[in-house]
Amino acid sequence: MKIAKIFPLMNDKNINRKFAETEIGSDKSISHRSVMFALLANGESVVENFLEAEDTQNSLKIVEKLGAKVERRDDKIFITSEGRAKEADDVLDCGNSGTGIRLFAGLLSSQKGAFFLTGDKYLRRRPMKRVTKPLKEIGAFLDGRENGNLAPLFIRGGEIKSFDYTSSISSAQVKSALILASLYGNDISRYREPELSRDHTERMLRGMGVDIKNISETEIEISPITKPLQPINIKVPTDPSSAFFFAVAGAIIPNSKIHLTNMLLNKTRIEAYKILEKMGAKIEIIVRESKYEEIGDIIISSGELKAVEVSENISWLIDEIPALAIAMSLANGTSVIKNAEELRVKESDRISAVVKNLRNCGIKVEEFKDGFSVEGGKLLPAVIDSFGDHRIAMSFSIAGLICGMKIEDVEGVNTSFPNFYNILAEFSQVELS
Ligand code: S3P
Repeated sequence: MKIAKIFPLMNDKNINRKFAETEIGSDKSISHRSVMFALLANGESVVENFLEAEDTQNSLKIVEKLGAKVERRDDKIFITSEGRAKEADDVLDCGNSGTGIRLFAGLLSSQKGAFFLTGDKYLRRRPMKRVTKPLKEIGAFLDGRENGNLAPLFIRGGEIKSFDYTSSISSAQVKSALILASLYGNDISRYREPELSRDHTERMLRGMGVDIKNISETEIEISPITKPLQPINIKVPTDPSSAFFFAVAGAIIPNSKIHLTNMLLNKTRIEAYKILEKMGAKIEIIVRESKYEEIGDIIISSGELKAVEVSENISWLIDEIPALAIAMSLANGTSVIKNAEELRVKESDRISAVVKNLRNCGIKVEEFKDGFSVEGGKLLPAVIDSFGDHRIAMSFSIAGLICGMKIEDVEGVNTSFPNFYNILAEFSQVELS
C-alpha cells in the first residue's frame, strides 16, 4: 500500500504560485469524451493535451481495442475511425472509472456485436442499473451481476428505439450514456433531469454535427444521426476539479494566492470556487477563449473563512465536496451539505469517508443520509484512510499543509492527477513510501 506523509508548512509560510497551461492535468471528463466520440467519427480526430492518467488512458486503450487507429505525436493524439465500434476480442477494462464504464455502456448499446466491460474492485461495486435499465428498455441487451447492476457487464448492441426519459438523478454519466445510444435511435429522443448536470457531451457532439436542442436547461431533444460524426479537433483545457485542491490550499493558508490558467470555466464545473468565494476567499475569473467551452483563468486568494450551507446544484460540485469539507473544517461556524446522497456511490462512499477522516482530525462532524455538517475548528494530524478514492486522498493531503497528515492508500491519485504530489512537494515536504 502506498502512503503519503505530508509535513505542515512552516510558521507564516504562504503559497503564491501561477500555474502554466499544462502543469495541472487536463480535464478528465472532456478527455474521456474526446477519444470515445472520435470512435464514432469518420476520419481522423485530433486531441491535444489529453489527460495522461489511468482512467483516461483506459478509455483510450478501449477505443483502440474497438477498432480505432491511435497514434501519438508531440502533445497530440490522432484517432482514426470508420465511424463505428468493432467487436473486440477481449474484455474492455475501464479500471476505476465510472465515466468510462457508463459512457461506453451507452455507446456500445447501439453497436453491432458483443462487448464485455469491467473495472477494478471499486468500480465493480458501483451501481450500473442507472444506465443498464434505461438502455435495456430502448432495445439493447445488457446484463451483469445482480441482474445487470454490477460489472462485469455484457452488452449486445441492438436496434435502438427513440425514448422520452425522465431521470430521477442529475448525472452526466447517465445523461451521456442515453445521448450516445439515442444517436442511433429510430426517431427524436428526449431526456430530462432534475437539475442540469455537466453538459460536455451535448456541447462536443453538437460540434461534431449532432442536432441536440435544449428545450430548457434540464431538457434536451436529440435527433438520430444519419451519417457518422465529423472528426473532433480539440485542445483539452485544465481540469477545474483537479485544480480545486490547490484552490483550497490558496484559500486556507493565510496570505496565499493561486493563479490557475487555461481552466475549463463551464458553470457546471466551477461552482465549488463560487462556494469558496461565499465562504470568504477572493476569487477572480477571467474568460479568455471559447471553443465548445469557455476557457480562462481563476485566481484565488486566501481570506477569513466563514461557514456555508449548500443544498442546490450538488452535481455541479459533486467531485469537489471532499476538498470543500477541508475548507469547512477551518471556517468559522457550522457548514452543512444536503441533498448529496449521490456522494455515497462515487469512487468511495464520500459522505462516510469525509466524516470518518475529519473526526480523526479532531473536527466535530455530523453525518446525514444525504450529507454532513462540519463545525469549523482546529485540524489535528491524523492517519487518513483514503478508501481507495483519489479525491479523498488529495483533499486530506491539502489539509496536511496545515497540520501534517499521513494518508494511506494513495495509489488512486494516479487515476486522475499523477502530478499531484510533485506539485504539493513544491509547497511543503512530502514523503511517499
Ligand atoms: C462525470 C460525471 C460525474 C462526476 C464524474 C465525472 C462525467 O458523475 O462525478 O467524476 O464525466 O460525466 P455523475 O454524472 O454520475 O454524477
